[in-house]
Amino acid sequence: MLWDRYRGVLPEWELCEAACRTPAPKTIRTFPSRRPDAEVLRRLSAQGFALEALPFPPHVYRVTNEPFPIGRTLEHWLGYLYVQESVMALVAYALLEGTQARVALDLCAAPGGKTTHLSELLPEGTVVAADTSERRLRALGSNLQRTARLNVLSLRADGRSFPLGAAFDAVLVDAPCSAEGNAREDPRVLRDLPEATRRRLSRLQEALLRRAVRLVRPGGVVVYATCTFAPEENEAVVDRVLAEHPDLSVEPLSLPVPHTPGLAEFGGRRYDPRLRDAWRVYPHHLDSGGLFVVRLRRAGVEGAQWASPPLVHPSARIPENEAYRRVERALRLVTDDLGVAPHHLQGLRWMVTGKHLWLHRCSAWPPAQWEPGQRWELVGCGLRAFARWGRGEQRPTSWLVQWLGDRIQNRLDLHRDQWDRLLAGQTVPVSRPSGFVALSFQGEVMGAGLVRAGQVRHLIPAERAQQLREALTLRAP
Ligand SMILES: C[S@@+](CC[C@H](N)C(=O)[O-])C[C@H]1O[C@@H](n2cnc3c(N)ncnc32)[C@H](O)[C@@H]1O
Repeated sequence: MLWDRYRGVLPEWELCEAACRTPAPKTIRTFPSRRPDAEVLRRLSAQGFALEALPFPPHVYRVTNEPFPIGRTLEHWLGYLYVQESVMALVAYALLEGTQARVALDLCAAPGGKTTHLSELLPEGTVVAADTSERRLRALGSNLQRTARLNVLSLRADGRSFPLGAAFDAVLVDAPCSAEGNAREDPRVLRDLPEATRRRLSRLQEALLRRAVRLVRPGGVVVYATCTFAPEENEAVVDRVLAEHPDLSVEPLSLPVPHTPGLAEFGGRRYDPRLRDAWRVYPHHLDSGGLFVVRLRRAGVEGAQWASPPLVHPSARIPENEAYRRVERALRLVTDDLGVAPHHLQGLRWMVTGKHLWLHRCSAWPPAQWEPGQRWELVGCGLRAFARWGRGEQRPTSWLVQWLGDRIQNRLDLHRDQWDRLLAGQTVPVSRPSGFVALSFQGEVMGAGLVRAGQVRHLIPAERAQQLREALTLRAP
C-alpha cells in the first residue's frame, strides 16, 4: 500500500494507521460574527445534535451525535456554520498568527473553507480569493453568500499567472494535491499515483508557490499547505523554491497542536534543513484528516499600496451618474420599503456590475495595471445585494435580506404551512401593500418576498428554496 512508504519516517506509525481505520469525526466551524456560538449550539442541541468544543482551534466543534446531516440543518442554510475538518481550520491561523495583515490572498480558494475562515479572522481587512475551476468557483460563491462574507473579493484567475503589481501582506497556497490525508473519507486516494501525475502535480504546486512568493510584500508571509503526505508535493516543492529565494525564511509555527516536523530527507533526497520547521499533522494528531503546512516570510519591510474599490466595475461600462441612481434606488428600498435604519449601512460600500449591485466592506482593489479581462475576472465583491430585474429595475436578493435580518422592520412572519406553500411555488394571501418584504419564520428572516395584489411569493433562488424546504422538513416541529 502507498502509505507503507511513510512507515520509516513516521514514528507513531501504528497510531496513525489505527486512526485511519475509522472514519474521522465530523467537525464544524462557527462564525461568531454571524451568531454567538452559544446560540448556534443551543439551536442544534434542540434538534438532537451533540457537539464538543475542541481545545484548538477556537470555534471548532466535533459533532458527537448527528440525527441527520448537519450540513442540511437550517443553521447551515442560514450560514451560521461551515462543515470543515478540524485540521483544515489550522491553516488560517498558520497564515495570520502574529501578523497585522490587512490584505490577504487565497490563491486556490474554492470551495471556500479557508477563505471564509480568513475573512472571519480579518474583519477589518480584505481577502482576495482566486480559483480556476468554474464548478468550484460556483461553490465558493454560494458559500461566500451563505456566510455573508462582505470583505471577500473573489476572482477567476490562474494562480500561476496571477497579476503582479499588488503586494499582499499574506498569501495562502492551499495547493491542489494527491489528497492522501483524506484517506479516512475515501481510501481510493491511497492508490499508487502514476509517476506522471505526481510530476504534473508537483510542477503545478511549484508554479503556484513561486507566484505566491512574487505576490507577497517584503516582510509578508506565505503559507504553503496540502492535505497529502507525499514529500514530492511538500518538502521537495518548498525546497526548490527556497533555493531560488535567499530572501525567504521558514518560520516556526506556534499553534498548540500535536504534529511531527517536516522531513529532512526522503527516498535518498535531502531537503533544506529549515524544513524541519514545517508541520506534518497526521490523522491521529487531531483525530482528523492530514495536513502539511509551512510558513515562509519574505525579508524586508514594506507597506502595501492598494486602491479603493471603484463604484462601477470597469468592465460594466455604466456611466457614473447611472450607477449613483441605482445605488440611491437601492438605498431607498432598504430604508423605506424594508424599514432598515440608515446607520446599519454605515461604512459599507457599493459596487455596480452589469447584472448586480454588490454591498461590501473590501478596502483593497487591484491596482491600475491589473487590466480586467486579462488574467483575472471579477466573480464577486462582498454580498450580491441587488439583481437586475424587469425593465432596468433591480430587486433585493435574499442574501441581502437574510444578512440584514433583525435590522429589518418590515418583516412578514409566516407560519410553517404558509412556508410550505410558498416553497412549493404557490402564493399566499397577505394583507400588505404591494412591494418587497422580508419573509421570516419564527421571527428569523429567511429571504426576500414580493407582494402583488394581496399575494406574496418568495424570491429565493430555486436551489436554495429546495434546500430550505428540506431543512424545514428535517427540523423538529
Ligand atoms: C485543495 S483545493 C482548495 C481548497 C480550499 N482552499 C478550501 O479550503 O476550501 C485546491 C484548489 O486549487 C484550485 N486550482 C487548481 N489549479 C489552480 C490554479 N492554477 N490556480 C488557482 N487555483 C487552482 C482547484 O480548483 C481547487 O479548488
